[in-house]
Amino acid sequence: MHLLSVLLLLFALLCQVTALGTVTGLYGKTVSIPCNYGAIKAADIMMMKWKYNKGDAQFGDLLVKQKDQNVSISATNDYRGRVNMDANFTLLLSEAKLTDERTFTCMVVAGADIHEFPVTVHIYKSPAGVEISDEAKELEFGKLTKLGKCVARDANPAANITWLRNNKPLVADGKGIIIKNSVDGDSVTGLSTTTSTLEYSAEKADNEAQFTCRADHPLGNKLVSSPVTFTITYSTEHIDLQVIPQNRLVEGDNLTLKCVADGNPAPTSFMFDLKGNAVKVEKGNVYTLTNISRNTSGVYKCSLIDNPSMEASRNITVNYLDINLSPSGKIVKRAGETLDITLQINSSTTSKVHWTKDFKQSSEPKFTKLAYSDSGFYECKVTMENLERTASFELVVTGAPKIKGLKEINEDGQQKILICEVEGSPKPAVSWSINGTLLNETSFPNGNIEHKIAVVPSANLTVSCTVSNEFGTDTKLIVVSPLFEEVRMDKQDEAKNGDKTLLVVGVVVGLVIAAVVIGLAYWLYMKKSKQGSWKTGEKENGSLEEEKKLEENSQKAEV
Ligand SMILES: *[C@@H]1O[C@H](CO)[C@@H](O)[C@H](O)[C@H]1NC(C)=O
Ligand SMILES: *[C@@H]1O[C@H](CO)[C@@H](O)[C@H](O)[C@H]1NC(C)=O
Ligand SMILES: *[C@@H]1O[C@H](CO)[C@@H](O)[C@H](O)[C@H]1NC(C)=O
Ligand SMILES: *[C@@H]1O[C@H](CO)[C@@H](O)[C@H](O)[C@H]1NC(C)=O
Ligand SMILES: *[C@@H]1O[C@H](CO)[C@@H](O)[C@H](O)[C@H]1NC(C)=O
Ligand SMILES: *[C@@H]1O[C@H](CO)[C@@H](O)[C@H](O)[C@H]1NC(C)=O
Ligand SMILES: *[C@@H]1O[C@H](CO)[C@@H](O)[C@H](O)[C@H]1NC(C)=O
Ligand SMILES: *[C@@H]1O[C@H](CO)[C@@H](O)[C@H](O)[C@H]1NC(C)=O
Ligand SMILES: *[C@@H]1O[C@H](CO)[C@@H](O)[C@H](O)[C@H]1NC(C)=O
Ligand SMILES: *[C@@H]1O[C@H](CO)[C@@H](O)[C@H](O)[C@H]1NC(C)=O
Ligand SMILES: *[C@@H]1O[C@H](CO)[C@@H](O)[C@H](O)[C@H]1NC(C)=O
Repeated sequence: MHLLSVLLLLFALLCQVTALGTVTGLYGKTVSIPCNYGAIKAADIMMMKWKYNKGDAQFGDLLVKQKDQNVSISATNDYRGRVNMDANFTLLLSEAKLTDERTFTCMVVAGADIHEFPVTVHIYKSPAGVEISDEAKELEFGKLTKLGKCVARDANPAANITWLRNNKPLVADGKGIIIKNSVDGDSVTGLSTTTSTLEYSAEKADNEAQFTCRADHPLGNKLVSSPVTFTITYSTEHIDLQVIPQNRLVEGDNLTLKCVADGNPAPTSFMFDLKGNAVKVEKGNVYTLTNISRNTSGVYKCSLIDNPSMEASRNITVNYLDINLSPSGKIVKRAGETLDITLQINSSTTSKVHWTKDFKQSSEPKFTKLAYSDSGFYECKVTMENLERTASFELVVTGAPKIKGLKEINEDGQQKILICEVEGSPKPAVSWSINGTLLNETSFPNGNIEHKIAVVPSANLTVSCTVSNEFGTDTKLIVVSPLFEEVRMDKQDEAKNGDKTLLVVGVVVGLVIAAVVIGLAYWLYMKKSKQGSWKTGEKENGSLEEEKKLEENSQKAEV
């Protein structure tokens, strides 16, 4: 062996050194370091040897193979158990370590030539994993906070760490994103651990955003940490006071004040300012006022307990509508009097008034001189937005009755109808100066009544209609002509023409009677001259009946 070494040293100057090869092996695995790459035929090789560079131009032997001999391991140190060679002269280095990153040289003696093939070996190792630790509990909006630490352990070469937000790389900008990386080598294994810390100024949108870190390594298999998320805390920026119901408030409503503030976590306690009265509400954001009145109107505020400058305020107006109608209830007034109606309206805004009389639309009542027709049920309806009030009174106009008309109608030749038209309230009693058949009495709403009787007069009659109630009496007369004569006259004759008609009728009747008397006298004379005796029977009876009728007529006339 010694001799061989000397021999090799002697020949060293004659060596043909080829360009440096490079081999990358995996940490802990067996590294194959090829020799000569088939440049020399195996059959030509007299002897070959693997050695390694110790540094400072010092070499250490690993193994030697002579033609037709088994491999001889010449390594004495740590390499002894780890080196071997395959049939192609490839050095097999097991359990690769970082200290194996050096140059291994294969020396081949073929014929008279000595060849050297140096191979540089790199040992790579992926990081054992990548994980985020020391993560912040929460991130405060806009405040630079150490979000966490990302560690990629035991790699060679050292892994590069990249921070990602929702899978997009974060680029350090020195303000909102500050990334600090460091690499530590293990004193035993020599492997590198890369550590990266991220300082981050969060935005609200970062709430629930996924932060990861990725370790990049020449071996290429990308490692990504499990994601971490954060709640982004921020203090209240907006505060709003809500009023429920939102629409028009009216007296009697329940009013709910709701203080709505943002922030994370959102504030849970508030200070309400109720028209100057401070009320603290804890673990809630509502304050309810029940059965509000117009007095409730005013300015309401709410603010944060720990930051009174965060304040919201609202002007609240409670609508109200009060009406007072004077007079009210049942009012009894004398016809001709005046009546003042006052409707007082107190409302938060302008209102509308709507009057009805006896449930029919009417204008606003004004009574300067009360008439019976003014009697009725008056109602006013006042509306304002969604409020409505009604008030009413019942007006009864009283007074002595007055006969407005007294007339006769000859309806069918059988009887005459007398109509007494009366106005008055309360309803007057009607009486006639003769007995007639009461046909009917029609009452009209505005204190008017029509009283009708049917009579069968046989002579001129002066008939009176008398009406009375507690306030007085009124009487009117009408002359009714007999029905018999009038039959031949114009049926439509009015009572006014009665006297004239009666006169005409009288004349006619007179003439007829005179003609009958003359005729009778002539007939009697002729009969007497023929028979020479009176025959009175029927005639006398007839006279008697006529007399009776006349008597009756005169009696009726006296009534
Ligand atoms: C080589 O090794 C084998 C066993 O590993 C052995 O049988 C053989 O004899 C050896 N050859 C020489 C030349 O030493
Ligand atoms: C040696 O090299 C030859 C050709 O390059 C190859 O076919 C063979 O598999 C190799 N043997 C070993 C043990 O690597
Ligand atoms: C790691 O970062 C360095 C410097 O930025 C770069 O040169 C190198 O290529 C990176 N390595 C990987 C694997 O990305
Ligand atoms: C107001 O609230 C009370 C109970 O707090 C309830 O009895 C009443 O009906 C409410 N009034 C209205 C108008 O909702
Ligand atoms: C509401 O208040 C008014 C006076 O403001 C009162 O007359 C009424 O009885 C109250 N209603 C209730 C339900 O408390
Ligand atoms: C409203 O306030 C007035 C005085 O400001 C008071 O006299 C009245 O009783 C109050 N009404 C209600 C319903 O609170
Ligand atoms: C509330 O009303 C008062 C006057 O009535 C007014 O000066 C004030 O600006 C109003 N405030 C709001 C918030 O509307
Ligand atoms: C309206 O308000 C005035 C003054 O406040 C008061 O005197 C009057 O009684 C009120 N009228 C009604 C109908 O409430
Ligand atoms: C009306 O007739 C009744 C009987 O029918 C009689 O008793 C009464 O006296 C008569 N009245 C007049 C005013 O004729
Ligand atoms: C009243 O009498 C008039 C005329 O006879 C008739 O037309 C009317 O229907 C009567 N009214 C009633 C209510 O009987
Ligand atoms: C009826 O009255 C008129 C005048 O009003 C008179 O001319 C007439 O003779 C009277 N007839 C009878 C039957 O009395």
